[in-house]
Amino acid sequence: MGVWTTLFRKFRGRRSYDESFLAEHIPAHIAIIMDGNGRWARRRGLPRAAGHHAGMLAMREVIRAADDWGVQVLTLYSFSTENWKRPRQEIDYLWQLVDEFFQLDIEELVERNVCIKIIGDEEQLPEVTQATIQKARNQTIANTGLVVQFALNYGSRSEIVKAVQTVARRVERNELRASDITEGAIAAALETADVPDPDLLIRTAGDQRVSNFLLWQIAYTEFVFVDETWPEFTRTHFEESIKTYLTRERRFGGLK
Ligand code: IPE
Ligand code: IPE
Ligand code: MG
Repeated sequence: MGVWTTLFRKFRGRRSYDESFLAEHIPAHIAIIMDGNGRWARRRGLPRAAGHHAGMLAMREVIRAADDWGVQVLTLYSFSTENWKRPRQEIDYLWQLVDEFFQLDIEELVERNVCIKIIGDEEQLPEVTQATIQKARNQTIANTGLVVQFALNYGSRSEIVKAVQTVARRVERNELRASDITEGAIAAALETADVPDPDLLIRTAGDQRVSNFLLWQIAYTEFVFVDETWPEFTRTHFEESIKTYLTRERRFGGLK
């Protein structure tokens, strides 16, 4: 049994562990492109909706695993600005699932001290979903544990455009000169201003692309692509992805 297997067995599911050891090794921010629900369903002769439902169950387990491991931020790509191109029926079902998830899981999330955050444009969401989200956010706003950022109707280019507009308005008000616009000023205007950049980005289902997710924030993120579809992705796959991440040498442009 390798050293990592031993350590992961030791710490799995525990809330009390050697904080300093884990703090050094567990990525602070993990972002996930939860892809492949449709393919999972098709391979089983099921409707796409069944794949999305199975995907929700996988998501629940991964949130638990991230919390058990002491991850600080988990960002879950749940609906992109491009996903509006899908059939109305599928989109409606996805919003229904968001409602269902929060209704069923909010109690456990509160119990786990999870703080729920949304990134993306909420205004275009059905009113019921907006209300559900608002409620979940309010219920967890003071929580100090794992931050789960749900990317809902999220598109990175649109986020960057809005950030640039925010900065441009400061220039219009003479609060800032164009020549004083820094990377920090742009980053501070993004919806992710309050969290560190992702250390690890996981994409399931075999495709190796970013699909308009966190383009600014992933400048130095490590990518792990897994072949399993999202509904197949378990706690073990999550741990394996972290182990893969731990084999990488992050140089940030410098030398070892
Ligand atoms: C990911 O699974 C979920 C969403 C994008 C909402 P997909 O629905 O994209 O599944 P595939 O890629 O068609 O298999
Ligand atoms: C990315 O998956 C968006 C989410 C997982 C929510 P898509 O299935 O929409 O991405 P593409 O179309 O394959 O790039
Ligand atoms: Mg897909």
